Amino acid sequence: MEHLQLAVADLVLRPWRDEDAPAVRDALRDPAIAQWNPQGDGPIDDEVALLWVRRRADWSAGDHASLAVTSAADGDLLGSVSLHHIRHGDASIGYWTAPAARGRHVAVRAVVRLTEWAFADLGLHRVELCHAVANPASCRVADRAGYPAEGTLRESYRYGDGRRYDEHLHARLASDR
Ligand SMILES: CC(C)(COP(=O)(O)OP(=O)(O)OC[C@H]1O[C@@H](n2cnc3c(N)ncnc32)[C@H](O)[C@@H]1OP(=O)(O)O)[C@@H](O)C(=O)NCCC(=O)NCCS
Repeated sequence: MEHLQLAVADLVLRPWRDEDAPAVRDALRDPAIAQWNPQGDGPIDDEVALLWVRRRADWSAGDHASLAVTSAADGDLLGSVSLHHIRHGDASIGYWTAPAARGRHVAVRAVVRLTEWAFADLGLHRVELCHAVANPASCRVADRAGYPAEGTLRESYRYGDGRRYDEHLHARLASDR
């Protein structure tokens, strides 16, 4: 899988590399990413970022597929998109976009492309997407990426500030297309 490349317009989705660690460190320090994609307690330093990248580069357990979202033009890191909890035809999807790359639908395009690959190449049937109700940008990403809302989960996840938040559950089926 280390040679996997998924292209979509001006984006290239590819496996994580050690050299992504400094950009990941900066992204994980962004307050919105720290809140909505929490990485646990403790400061995000170079070592934490390198471990983060290496965990996501190691697909050997078969339970996740994690990709860096990069610019086709210059290779810059723009974001992250990952399938987690891959099991029995199901998975969940998560993402963030680096602050400087926001406002041009990077996450929507990355989610659409990885979902297509999940259905066509991994043979998944259902991919779920959860976001805090208090995070409307992520709700818009879900809707735009073709993940209809299925309901509200009450106080279902503890986010970066340590509080539990209600979440919207969205999902897409292979048969939706
Ligand atoms: C959510 C996130 C990934 C979206 O970033 P992006 O890929 O650059 O998306 P865009 O900024 O192009 O916005 C996508 C849509 O959301 C809308 N949007 C952006 N910020 C919004 C906000 N605060 N409230 C409501 N809608 C918002 C945009 O207007 C756009 O809508 P459109 O499709 O009608 O044009 C990014 O804001 C982010 O990384 N946030 C912090 C981490 C996070 O929330 N991760 C997801 C956890 S579930």
